[in-house]
Amino acid sequence: MPDISRRSLAAGVGLLAGAVAVPAAAQQLLAVANAPKFRAQPLTLNPDKIKWLSAQSITEHHAIYAESVNRLNAITEQLAQIDFAKAQPAEIGELKREQQVVYNSSLLHELHFECIGDAPTSPSGVFAQAMSRDFVSLDRWKAEFAAMGKAVTDGKGMVILAYTPRDKRLINHLAADHATGPVGCVPLIVMDMYEHAYKADFAGDPAKYVDGFVQMVRWVTPERLYREAIRV
Ligand SMILES: [Fe+2]
Repeated sequence: MPDISRRSLAAGVGLLAGAVAVPAAAQQLLAVANAPKFRAQPLTLNPDKIKWLSAQSITEHHAIYAESVNRLNAITEQLAQIDFAKAQPAEIGELKREQQVVYNSSLLHELHFECIGDAPTSPSGVFAQAMSRDFVSLDRWKAEFAAMGKAVTDGKGMVILAYTPRDKRLINHLAADHATGPVGCVPLIVMDMYEHAYKADFAGDPAKYVDGFVQMVRWVTPERLYREAIRV
């Protein structure tokens, strides 16, 4: 007998469900089988090559991110097992809000780690042109981005450079938590301003962490994402 994955089975029965009524119990089983499984992404940087952040700080931060992916999987599976027709709306609301927080946390952390560089470089090509067009100069962008990071005084938040497909522009925005930001934007650079990102190395001086991040941005990451975004 051929090996049929749970997801393939769910997809096949899901197509069938368009034509034939599927009993509620069967829908429940299909929902569980079809629930996505998220995997923590390994670091794409070598922590030992980063001189402005300690390797221990980076690896411990990555472990925090991996825990949020585990939590995302747990919530997603919990939601898949719920019979929504019978569930308490408040329970659904709480789970969906937390799911969004940990989902965004996962995405933003992956991009944060991808943006940590080990040497000062500069953007190039069409992305460099877009940065000059929308921020006047790279120095002015750095000053704005750094000031936004230093404005986070409660140890919670993300500073994000994003592309807005609607306006076809780059903007910096400040996410007060993992779940706020302009609708439809594509994040290109993420600087994690949660205290766990800098406390081990810059306990009393997060401004030094901000300056280090801004000077050491790994520009190949936003360049790649920008080129992908403008094709949308
Ligand atoms: Fe973080």
